[in-house]
Amino acid sequence: MAASGDSVEKQAAFETAASIIRVAERIAVLTGAGVSAESGLPTFRGAGGLWEGQRVEDVATPFAFRRNPEFVWRFYNARRTNLRTVRPNAGHFALAALEESRPAGAFTLITQNVDGLHRAAGNRRILELHGNLGRVRCTGCARIEDRRDEALDDLPRCERCGAVLRPDVVWFHEPLPEDSWAEAEAATSACQCFLVVGTSAIVYPAAGLISSAQCNGAAVIEVNLEPTEASRLADVGLYGPSGKILPRLVEMLRST
Ligand code: OAD
Repeated sequence: MAASGDSVEKQAAFETAASIIRVAERIAVLTGAGVSAESGLPTFRGAGGLWEGQRVEDVATPFAFRRNPEFVWRFYNARRTNLRTVRPNAGHFALAALEESRPAGAFTLITQNVDGLHRAAGNRRILELHGNLGRVRCTGCARIEDRRDEALDDLPRCERCGAVLRPDVVWFHEPLPEDSWAEAEAATSACQCFLVVGTSAIVYPAAGLISSAQCNGAAVIEVNLEPTEASRLADVGLYGPSGKILPRLVEMLRST
């Protein structure tokens, strides 16, 4: 079924993507901030992005936190406030439907996002490479807690040991969570289809999964508003909002 106004090339790209997904025994998906844009969450780069007028080094590094923890917490608390009201969009739900349509273990969702929206949409096998904004981690006793539904002070402290808490997210110059990264690498090298959604594909090591997938013989499908660093590795590019592209793709898979 072609959407009205589509070029022949665009319809052909959808059909190629659907046929790649149909025959893939295992699928891995890498998502970035773009998949949550239609839920009202800002992306990082570009006009209106979180990094516009904000130096990454001032808010998203361990050095920034040591220098001025209140400043860093104000930045993250502003983002945490959004979390309490934000809802998954049609793109998130389409990815959940895709997982649902596959045998257990044949679908892995790898995300750079910290917003928890993939879980809220119903995906189950999720690897959060950059942590989760709803959680806090104690800088003293290392206890991790889910405080998603609470407003926190600008310098929250651990109720157990009194040390300062930090958001349980990965900052620049920090390693990714070991287990999630190992599982992401394994899922990437085992898949026949690697779907890249809503990421500028410039932050490593996450972006490196795209070339690993390609080197291991997977077909790469990109979904984005525009071509990115991932495009040269992609077998197919579907350009437009993921909240429209992904449901259409899933619908095509259902109807055949
Ligand atoms: P970016 O802000 O770098 O890129 C967002 C991408 O989403 C861009 O390529 C946009 O074109 C695309 N996009 C925007 N709206 C979209 C929509 N409705 N549908 C589809 N695509 C859309 O965000 P990330 O690639 O996620 O890391 O950034 C990667 C990492 O850099 C983040 O996890 C974060 C950041 O600094 C840390 O904080 C460690």
